[in-house]
Amino acid sequence: MRPTIIAGNWKMFKDAHETSAFIASFTKALTFELKNVKVVVCPPFTSLAVAQPLLAGTPVALGAQNMSPEDEGAFTGEIAPKMLKSVGCTYVIIGHSERRQYFGETNDGVNRKVRKALASGLLPIACVGETLEEREKGVTDSVVSTQVKALFKDVPEQDATRVVIAYEPVWAIGTGKTATPEQAQAVHAMIRGLVTSLYSSETAGRIVIQYGGSVKPENAVELLGQPDIDGALVGGACLKVESFIPIIRAGIAP
Ligand code: PGA
Repeated sequence: MRPTIIAGNWKMFKDAHETSAFIASFTKALTFELKNVKVVVCPPFTSLAVAQPLLAGTPVALGAQNMSPEDEGAFTGEIAPKMLKSVGCTYVIIGHSERRQYFGETNDGVNRKVRKALASGLLPIACVGETLEEREKGVTDSVVSTQVKALFKDVPEQDATRVVIAYEPVWAIGTGKTATPEQAQAVHAMIRGLVTSLYSSETAGRIVIQYGGSVKPENAVELLGQPDIDGALVGGACLKVESFIPIIRAGIAP
């Protein structure tokens, strides 16, 4: 059975002090059995080394929000995969729509980062999703297929199941507008079908596809109840213990 992965993308929120306070109360509230659910928090770079010791011995994994596709070198302002590993990261978000929209990340660049993450022993959470304009034009499937094909370019089948795909319709991110469970399920099923054609049905059956975009306690149960939705990438609602915990609970199968 595929695990459910609930990841919190903190974006550019919480300094080092706020991180300590949050992790302390978050891990304290995580008193229930997680069963088949994996929980990941992705704070800003400056909070990773703060979060690492606080998460040791808890079931919560650490992730970063971006990384360089290079191992090291004269790349001012960049963070290398081995630096992320040295502060305890297991996961790294790649190609978030905000990176694509504001920092010029392309499908090719996302593919380089995905391959570098895999080669470095990090698990990429690779983001795909259409804009409102693309949805209205009826090109959602072709845009998302192009993104998914690009991110898996030159990724061998034995590595493909280590990639977590996050389907995040851009129009649903931070807007309060969520895709309906049916809309999300349709795209997730399309992505799984595409992975079948790229690799095999066995690989497609094992790959985790998260939904992201205004996931909150009120809609998490229904979204996570869809057959092809295997987790959530949560922005706004992961910043508060009271809203993140119920989303994690929603991921626990009855
Ligand atoms: P949101 O963000 O939950 O605030 O919509 C999701 C994301 O950008 O990953």
